Amino acid sequence: MENKGLLNKVDLIFEKIDNREVLDKVYKMTGADIIQDMLDSGLKGRGGAGFPTGLKWKYTAAEKNPEKYVICNADEGEPGTFKDREILDRVSYKVHGGMLIAGKAIGAKKGIVYLRGEYRYLLPKLMIELNAFHKLIKEIGFDFEVEYRMGSGAYICGEESALFESIEGKRGEPRNKPPYPTVSGVFSKPTSINNVETLVTSMMIIKHGAKEFASYGTKDSRGSKVFSVSGDTPTPGIFELELGMSVQQFVNEFGDGDTKAVQVGGASGFCVPRKKFAETIIGFEGVPTGGSMKLFNSSRSMYNVLHNYLDFFAEESCGQCTPCRVGCQQLLKGVEKVKKGEVKSTYLNELTKLADTMKIAAKCGLGQSVGNAFKSIVGNFREEIIY
Ligand SMILES: Cc1cc2nc3c(=O)[nH]c(=O)nc-3n(C[C@H](O)[C@H](O)[C@H](O)COP(=O)(O)O)c2cc1C
Ligand code: SF4
Repeated sequence: MENKGLLNKVDLIFEKIDNREVLDKVYKMTGADIIQDMLDSGLKGRGGAGFPTGLKWKYTAAEKNPEKYVICNADEGEPGTFKDREILDRVSYKVHGGMLIAGKAIGAKKGIVYLRGEYRYLLPKLMIELNAFHKLIKEIGFDFEVEYRMGSGAYICGEESALFESIEGKRGEPRNKPPYPTVSGVFSKPTSINNVETLVTSMMIIKHGAKEFASYGTKDSRGSKVFSVSGDTPTPGIFELELGMSVQQFVNEFGDGDTKAVQVGGASGFCVPRKKFAETIIGFEGVPTGGSMKLFNSSRSMYNVLHNYLDFFAEESCGQCTPCRVGCQQLLKGVEKVKKGEVKSTYLNELTKLADTMKIAAKCGLGQSVGNAFKSIVGNFREEIIY
């Protein structure tokens, strides 16, 4: 694990390793050993919600059903996120290795990668890697198999229970919870679902040790994370950074000298304005992110930014529950009316109440998080939204 200084750039996810060496080590470990390593490392899921990986695996391992599944969530639909594509392109052997580690931890013999439809072009390369992986783990003595299933471009199918429905050949709509996936996931069997990066990180924790991983980052946000940097920046791309930096430190490194806002976590994340750069930590103690970091300079209209996100949500809402189906449309139409001067600017207060209601009443994370972007943009850039 090499620390490259400035902003604590880390080389963990893309570090080239000997797969056999790590998997030989895993072969000698018990499921309980692996789970303990994950708990000790403090690893939290890299898909956005940040659930502790060790706990997720512990709960799934505790289920008695002999048929269990490991799912790798490679749907990567959050606007501004493109790091899982790069991970799969460059180190897919570590994604497959992480799935095997999860499988050993929970007692599953089957893994499924749910791959974003637009990443179909990666499949030929992934199949070559997968064949080599299957050959290797058979030689070591594992009984585990991975297959790929394709998504078809719906953002909601990245939500874990909608993803299970999609794999099962049904319309991709979120399920009621509980039961949680650890008890009843894909094909109604106990399932551990993890983001691509989480699985690779688990492999690197086994390689380097939980203690070393936990020495990076902060108490609530251990380790490092891969960020997808885009927008008004001279250096867009993929960067692995130690967790716990402030937005100001991030902007110092990636801004163009005129950054007025950073959208952390994509459409479902939060907009941080310049005046809060210094006090806002990127991580679970501040603004969490699945990796999307979009910078906006003073040439950008924050009304357009907000409109764009609301348009996205109105389009991607699966329509299953009323607060989200109707709420997304009303927020979109509402800000348009405010901008055109058809209603008073105080109408934004009514829309804010609607966003709060959606957080409580919507069935899944999509509808529950629409208010994040809405409230942080309206709250910090009101003068740009009104007529
Ligand atoms: C609308 C919506 C879309 C999501 N899209 C993704 C996604 O593309 N990739 C992902 O890893 N998690 C996504 N998630 C989060 C997953 O439901 C789930 O929490 C995650 O795969 C768990 O993995 P982790 O614990 O490793 O983070 C999404 C959640 C919601 C509500
Ligand atoms: S919150 Fe939105 S996306 Fe989620 S179930 Fe309800 S309508 Fe569908």
